[in-house]
Amino acid sequence: MPTLSARSTKASTVRTDAVVIGVVQTGKGLVAVDEATDVAKAFGRGFVPMLSSLGFEGKPGQVAKLPSAHVVDTALVVAVGLGDADSLDSERLRRAAAAGVQAVSNAVSVALALPVEGAADVQAVGEGALLGLYSYDAYRTAESNGRPSDVVVLCDRARSRDIKQAVDTAQIVCRAVNMARDWVNTPPNDLTPAVFAEQIAAHKSDAKVKVTILDDKELAKQGCGGILGVGQGSVHPPRLAQLTWSPRRPAARIALVGKGITFDSGGLSLKPGTSMMTMKCDMSGAAAVVAATYAIAELGLPVAVTAYAPLAENMPSGTAARPGDVLTMRNGKTVEVLNTDAEGRLVLGDALDMAVEDEPDLVVDVATLTGACMVALGTRVGGVLSNDEALLHRIPAVAGRAGEAMWPLPIPEDIGAKVTSSVMADLRQHNPEPYGGTLFAAAFLRAFVKDARWVHLDVAGPAYNDGDAHGYTPKGGTGAAVRTLVRLAQEAATGDLLEDV
Ligand code: BES
Ligand code: MN
Ligand code: ZN
Repeated sequence: MPTLSARSTKASTVRTDAVVIGVVQTGKGLVAVDEATDVAKAFGRGFVPMLSSLGFEGKPGQVAKLPSAHVVDTALVVAVGLGDADSLDSERLRRAAAAGVQAVSNAVSVALALPVEGAADVQAVGEGALLGLYSYDAYRTAESNGRPSDVVVLCDRARSRDIKQAVDTAQIVCRAVNMARDWVNTPPNDLTPAVFAEQIAAHKSDAKVKVTILDDKELAKQGCGGILGVGQGSVHPPRLAQLTWSPRRPAARIALVGKGITFDSGGLSLKPGTSMMTMKCDMSGAAAVVAATYAIAELGLPVAVTAYAPLAENMPSGTAARPGDVLTMRNGKTVEVLNTDAEGRLVLGDALDMAVEDEPDLVVDVATLTGACMVALGTRVGGVLSNDEALLHRIPAVAGRAGEAMWPLPIPEDIGAKVTSSVMADLRQHNPEPYGGTLFAAAFLRAFVKDARWVHLDVAGPAYNDGDAHGYTPKGGTGAAVRTLVRLAQEAATGDLLEDV
């Protein structure tokens, strides 16, 4: 990941290879933001006409590359549109920063002259740049991707404490998001449950996080019939990673649970080939909770976090679970399996039961759980479901402040009742009706959280970008939910997020 720093240099004299300058639309036409007025002045009266002649209208994320011809100290100036000056917000800053740095090629360093009024804006600009510069090159044999490795956010008061902290926070958060992206992008032949568990544990020296890995024998001892049932068709046996961050005097205790299916073939209820192409992404929830836990620890947030990542590969074989099998879950409940492709809820059921054991103030699970959630909300919005009415509405707001789109969905009574309608066992795993799949899955998970306050994030859509890159979202793994989880810990520490209504 590139380095990030803040500097109180003028945009026209900064000693980087390129400078990105923000341009807003106003009633009087295009105007360079205050942080970049000196650059516009250096170009002279022709500045705005030049932008217009290049077809630049100042639309959000639009860029125009201007050779500086030595009117300023950098060789390249990149004008980036910020849209209407009056409707600027931090998400638009993130996207503009990303568009700006992405327009710079074959340069080592880039400075950003964007409107930063305080530490939060500096953090947003830093995040946009660091997330926007991500690319996954582990399996390419060609060399450097030519993207800048040194990012400088220009702002006055660069030496003040809050700005320094904003830079640090952006770096820690983006390292976590990019770590989750790397794991999601890693091909499933190279990220089996055992390998993933090892890689999770390998990070523990970075922060004061304790990591425990349970193998299949230990999972059997604990009675994790769901995790073992899903994993039994694969030659790569399941694991469960448990991470603990225990600060001295925690303001709250949060448990995180992430779905870690390293590849989801559907099992015997086999997926069609095209639906399988992206199913290495089915461990995105696990990647998100692990990465977020490391970030929370690195930030030293006064919130105790325990993360549980059940890791398994869902494969068809002679040893695979069958539709019709009954599994006994860790909490003692029996489950009638009806579709082996609804495997996420089985691994999560066991992990949620572990998570509620020491009675945390909040349990959050993250999972690429249902295709139905993409039908409901599209590919860029995550679903939020909960047994707590207040949190159901507070969590999407937290996500929004972190720059992620999430939306509340209900768990209606009639759908909840279907979970307990098995003729064979305590619970039925699958509702064959084609409607409300996301809601049924959440109702099933709810049966494992006892009376804990619980929030379920279905990130089937936003976790993996099957289309073109946009804003600071790359193709492939996106790191969805990492920023929301970190923000949630921040707000749990300081605000009234967990207060009762
Ligand atoms: N991992 C999938 C859900 C998914 C689909 C994630 C598309 C990302 C993109 C999950 O395990 C699954 O297969 N769900 C089934 C549930 C069904 C059998 C009730 C689905 O959505 O079809
Ligand atoms: Mn599945
Ligand atoms: Zn799955």
